[in-house]
Order: sequence, then structure tokens, then C-alpha cells
Amino acid sequence: MASCSSISSVDLQAQVLSCVDRGISSTSNRGHSCQLFLGKMYRFGPGNPSSGVSFLSSFQGASLGNARHRHRKHQCKSKVLKLSSQKASLKDNKSEPEFEQQRTESALDINSSIDRRQLLISSLTAAGLPLISNQSMASPIQPPDLTQCQKADVPGGSSPKCCLPSDPVKATDFQFDTSLPMRVRMASHLLDAAYITKYNRAYELMRALPDDDPRSFSQQASVHCAFCQSAYLQKNSNEKLQIHFSWLFYPWHRWYLYFHERILAKMLNDDTFALPFWNWDNQAIFSPLPNVIPAVFIENPALVDNTRAPSHQPPTLVDLTYSGKPGGLDPEQQRAENNNLMHQELVSGAKTPSLFFGQAYRAGDANAPGPGSVERAPHTAVHLWTGGDMGNFGTAGRDPIFYSHHANVDRLWNVWKSLGGRRKDITDPDWLNAEFVFYDENATLIKVKVGDAVSTEKLRYTYQNVPNPWITHISSPLSISIAGTKPVSSNGVASPAAAEATSLLEEIEEFGEEVEGKFKQLAGSAFQSKVKRPVKDLFRTLKKQITDEELEEVLVIQGVEVPSDKISKFDVFINLPDANDKTSINIPEFAGTFVNVPHLGMAPGMNRKATLRIGIGDKLEQLGIKDVSSIVVTLVPKGQGKDVPIVIKGIKIEYE
Ligand code: C2O
Repeated sequence: MASCSSISSVDLQAQVLSCVDRGISSTSNRGHSCQLFLGKMYRFGPGNPSSGVSFLSSFQGASLGNARHRHRKHQCKSKVLKLSSQKASLKDNKSEPEFEQQRTESALDINSSIDRRQLLISSLTAAGLPLISNQSMASPIQPPDLTQCQKADVPGGSSPKCCLPSDPVKATDFQFDTSLPMRVRMASHLLDAAYITKYNRAYELMRALPDDDPRSFSQQASVHCAFCQSAYLQKNSNEKLQIHFSWLFYPWHRWYLYFHERILAKMLNDDTFALPFWNWDNQAIFSPLPNVIPAVFIENPALVDNTRAPSHQPPTLVDLTYSGKPGGLDPEQQRAENNNLMHQELVSGAKTPSLFFGQAYRAGDANAPGPGSVERAPHTAVHLWTGGDMGNFGTAGRDPIFYSHHANVDRLWNVWKSLGGRRKDITDPDWLNAEFVFYDENATLIKVKVGDAVSTEKLRYTYQNVPNPWITHISSPLSISIAGTKPVSSNGVASPAAAEATSLLEEIEEFGEEVEGKFKQLAGSAFQSKVKRPVKDLFRTLKKQITDEELEEVLVIQGVEVPSDKISKFDVFINLPDANDKTSINIPEFAGTFVNVPHLGMAPGMNRKATLRIGIGDKLEQLGIKDVSSIVVTLVPKGQGKDVPIVIKGIKIEYE
């Protein structure tokens, strides 16, 4: 048994938690020749393959590294050929800068979608080169080997308590249970007394199970810890498995809750039992308030967690943009900001599957390629705002409110799909066929697929209907006046906004710094950069199946790197160079946010790397600047982690 200490974020204070490792096992070296061979060719900096190379090398190291790991022995050779022949074919037809851009894009995004692979493939066909079929490139994430629980990333080689029981080793395939009654997940602020009694009783019984039962509350919490804390390596790979910050976020959590709920139902011997959802996105002003910590989690012993932030008890309203520091807003402003954040992250900023779900994560890829909109915020902000156990992914599953928080996140997946347009589930087979394992209500290890999670109907549950007024929320014009900023545009009431924006761009012709290809460290102060809008036509020909109208303009903030063990956050504004940490986000210039939740006991110095992608098509329209050739992007570090160093590699615009 080894003890470890870790940083948590209880009520904004760093707090030392200690935990006990019970599941240390050996780290087997499962490197394969492909990896070693290509590793020699493409690794540009020091560092080990599992934790990632140094930042200077991560641009190519991560991208080519992904390709490197994805291809197994037999595909190794063709991969090398492919990268070099692609270079040749592109170089023939393009100017050097264009070629460089394309090459980098292909390499960087080779793991990001089928579309990207088609880009690569079309380059190859153009040059008359033989194709490698998509099929041969299929590489969904596989369940880890539970017998190989790793020492997690903590100082001194100790590990948090989150290895799962590894018996039986062989998992049974999931079968839909068509005999289950349709369960209705209800809003947790609307539960009646009988339901609350039942709900509390279910957790009482779950907490009473022996710790080594995979259905026990502590083991259920460990499930979350294990898959956020890199307790396991990916199957046949030295890459750590991590289900946050990628397209696995939604489906993995859906399955986690599914089994958690079935176990609670089993405790009660009541197949109708369903987890309530914490309806924090609902800014209704009537009691009981949906957007405070629901009373049910305060008044019922088995549903309480005493580590939550004391200052965030009701009637304090949830801050969906929380970053470790009270925003100091009055309730009306808080509601408006919450609504605008919701509108941004689900409606205007998430018009395509990859913007919503996050970036592709395939077998052998380095973990955490980039989160989707809702995962960044509000999801992450609610963790931090609740505080205590919830404020750290390693401990979040120890608070019963976690499961209700995630039921709401899960509900939002359904709401998002109902908004129409391109808002549909991912069709990439590497997403649909990705597999996980969970213990079910009978303590049987079950193997599930992402593709089986896309319909809640088929899983026999649904959500109580509640209003989602943020869908139609319109942010306030900037002229409402915000201390420290000057109005540079208004909220798109056809207006002088376009003219203002154009003159702004002229004014700041020399403004900011061209960040592409360089590194920029944000620490404390805002950073502005002018970003060119590329020619849409190039992207249109690459995405023939998508109509002009549907092609979404995406702001890409590349190579975001933050310390894993610290809260950090920055907001993104368009054409608001004076934006600062006091700037309201309930304005049309607000484009999105990035928030990092610390990981339990991550060693200091471990960095999380990601790409941030934000849909901005609607925003530019709203700002009346659909026709400008460049925009100014301002990144504003905020909150408790304001001074935490955040590195970014570049900012560019793409269409997807
Ligand atoms: Cu697995 Cu809300 O995090």
C-alpha cells in the first residue's frame, strides 16, 4: 500500500487529500515495432511515448505520433510511403506556403475525422497513387485489460485508489433488455417525497455493499477515477486511456450512468428507477430553483457530500462559466450569462458533430485530443463550481450529485440532436465501434459499443420534458457598457456593426501578433491576434457532401497546453480587442471558453494538450461581419487560474 497526496479544489483552496493505492500492478512494455520504427523518424523532442513529447515537438509529435501509433505492424510501411507520397503529390500543384499549410493540416488532423482522411485520400488519388481503404485504417478504441492497472500519474510512483476489480477477465457482450420498462429521468428539483425516499435508499444500499463489490459506491466512484486518471493503457498500446477531452466523452458517460442506474435499480429491486437530472441549465426564477444545488442533495444523508464549496449552497446560483473565482454577478446577470453560454455551446457554436462531441480519438492516439463545446463548459464549470470532490475528475464520482450532473449533460445530447441541421451523431465507424467495459447490476463485466448508446429509447430511458429557453437566447448588445471595454460592435441589428468592424480592422491593421507557427504564453493578461479567414472554396471541394450553407466556419486554437493539476480558463472573444476578465460573456462577441478541471494528484509539470474548435459562422453573422477578410480574436485568461501559464500554438480558421 502506498499513499499519495493530491491537489483538489475545495472552495477555491488547494486542499491536500490523501488516498491509498490498492491496485498497483506491473506496467508491461507492449511497444511494437511499428511504433519504434516510426518513433525514430518523427519524434522531434525528448519525452516518453506515453506522456507525450515536449511541447516544442507536440505539434508534429502529436499528429504524426497519432498516425504512428494507429498503424499496426503490417500497416507500418504503407503509412510511411503515404506521408511522403502525399508530400510529393501536393508539392507538384501548390505553392510552397499552400503546400506547407496543407501538409500540416493533413498531418495534424489525420486523426480528426473521416473527412480529413478523405482529404488525404483525395490528394493521393489526384496523384494516381493507390489508396489504402478506409477499412484498413479502422481503429476504434478498445476496452483496456483490467488486469493491467497502471500506476497513475502522481508524484513518487504512488497511485490513486481507482483500479477496478479485474475478475472475471472476459467481458460479456451487451444485449439490449427489451423487457425493461421505459424509465423517466426527472428533474432533481421536481422530485416528490416518495421518489426522494427511494433515491436516498438506493444510495444507502449501494454504500452498504462491501468495497470490493464492483457495484459498491466506492467502486462506482473508482470507475470515473480510473478512466480520467490513466489507470489503464489502451489495449496493445503504451498510450494512456482517457475518456475526457475527446469524442468519447458523451458515450462513455452515457454508459457509465446506464450501469450505475441499473445497479441502483437492483438495490431497490425496482426496474422503474431512473436517475434524476440536475437541471442547472434552466434559469427559471421560480421556486424550487433548478440552477442551485438541489435540496435533495443537501437533505438526504446518502446523497450528501460534505466537501462541496460552502459558499455555493442555495440560494447561490450556479455559474456555468465558473473558473474558480466568484464572478460577483447579481442573479439577473448570472442568469443572462448562463443562458448565453448555453446558447453558445449548444446552438450557435456547435453546429457540427465534431464541434459538439469533441475530436476524434482512435486506437493508439495520444489521449485528450480536444473537448467538445459542452464538455469544456458548462460541464466542466459545474464540476469546479460544485467544488470539493466534484472539483477534481479523480474524485468527482464520490459525490452523488455527479451522476445527476451527468444525467443533465446526457439529456443535452438529446436536446442538441433535436435542434436539427447537421446536429447528428457521428457516423465514423471508429466512433461507433469504440468499446468500453463496465460492471452491471449483477456484477458481470459487460462490453459495450458507442454505437449502441446513441438512442436512449433503445436503452429504455427518457427525460422529463423541461423548458430549454437558452435555445432562443439573444445576448445583450455591448452598449449596455462594461467597465474596462469599449464598444466596438453591436449585436448585429443589421446596424453599423459591419462598418464599425471593418474600421476596427483597418485601425488595428498592425494590431496583435501573428501567432500561427509561433508559441504564445498567456499568463494573466489577454492576448489578441488578427486571424485571416481562408477561402471557403478550398474546403467546399473537400467536403462535397456538405452544402455551402451547411459548411461551418470554425475558429481553431491549436496546441493549447495547460498544467493538468491546476484550474485554468480562458474566454474567447471576436472583434473585441479590449476584452478583459471583467467583460460580460452575455454579449455577441463572446465565442466560447476553455476550462481545465485538475486531475487528482497529477504530478506537477504534467501538461494537458488540446485543440479548441469553436463554430463561429452564426456569430460573424450576428456581428454583421460575414464579409470581412480577417477577424481579431482575443483570449482572456480568467478566474482562479488566471495566472496559470497557458500556451497556445496558433490560431486559424477552417471550414468543416
Ligand atoms: Cu467524467 Cu464530468 O466528468
